[in-house]
Amino acid sequence: MQLPGRHLLGIEGLHPAIISNLLDLAESYALLNRSGKTRRDVLRGRTLINLFFEDSTRTRTSFELAGKRLGADVINMSVSTSSVSKGETLLDTAATLNAMNCDLLVVRHKSSGAPALLAQKVDAAVINAGDGMHEHPTQALLDALTIRRHKGRLEGLTIAICGDIAHSRVARSNILLLTTMGCIVRLVGPPVLIPTGIEQFGVTIHHTMETGLRGADIVMALRLQTERMNGTGPGGGLIPSAREFFTFYGLDSDKLALAKPDALVMHPGPMNRGVEIASQLADDPTRSVIREQVEMGVAVRMAVLDVLSRTANRNV
Ligand code: NCD
Repeated sequence: MQLPGRHLLGIEGLHPAIISNLLDLAESYALLNRSGKTRRDVLRGRTLINLFFEDSTRTRTSFELAGKRLGADVINMSVSTSSVSKGETLLDTAATLNAMNCDLLVVRHKSSGAPALLAQKVDAAVINAGDGMHEHPTQALLDALTIRRHKGRLEGLTIAICGDIAHSRVARSNILLLTTMGCIVRLVGPPVLIPTGIEQFGVTIHHTMETGLRGADIVMALRLQTERMNGTGPGGGLIPSAREFFTFYGLDSDKLALAKPDALVMHPGPMNRGVEIASQLADDPTRSVIREQVEMGVAVRMAVLDVLSRTANRNV
């Protein structure tokens, strides 16, 4: 299996067969992880650098674990951008990383397109771990794997993605992946949090949870990305209050009752309990697969690192 390029910068442009193959490989790594075994031969002698210009808990940790389980040398770099100009930092960093002969570079940055820019400057295979409001491809892959494990398929499922769509790279990557795989995708939220023109991606828009959740197979709640909004306050100036947001768009068991009886609850984390999701529902093992999403995150990242290392420069 080979990706269209030597990097993974987004879901955009990935053929359904490639997505399916990546999910199959990730599934095998999920089973390996559950068995407690490792495959340290896969990335032996390879160097993986985690370059995070934005905070992260699960994404950085799971890339680190994935790299280590496959035998790579893993280095974590957290970079503060506060005092330096973005362009210079990125290009300087690229030169440094090149000098270190890094094979796999995992990048998170607050600017959309930063990983793509780095990809032009480094010899390593670049993996986008979230760039601004643009894409977060491994999150969409781990979400798809979690869904497929429970429902046995992706095609034909109805997925409701709720909350702050406008500022969410998770939403964007999920929209691309899920529509590519034949899902029916509904976006649910107040007009200020849904980008205009997004219908062109083959999704439908719902401004109430009543219509958006009715008959859905999967309900995905998203965090209000206040750090990407311009105003101050709990909703970045876009919503009156967190409490009001919860009343209308917070996922709780009453609203979930509108979806299919076996509908699953998802959230990429970090969660704001009582804002976009009720605490009790997030912790309900009969409905919530939020923990499994984290588990699948490691497996998906192992699959991506494995596949990209096969085409990484130093390997050819
Ligand atoms: C998401 C992100 O960083 O885009 N988190 C994650 O990677 N699990 C979502 C978020 O921050 O709300």
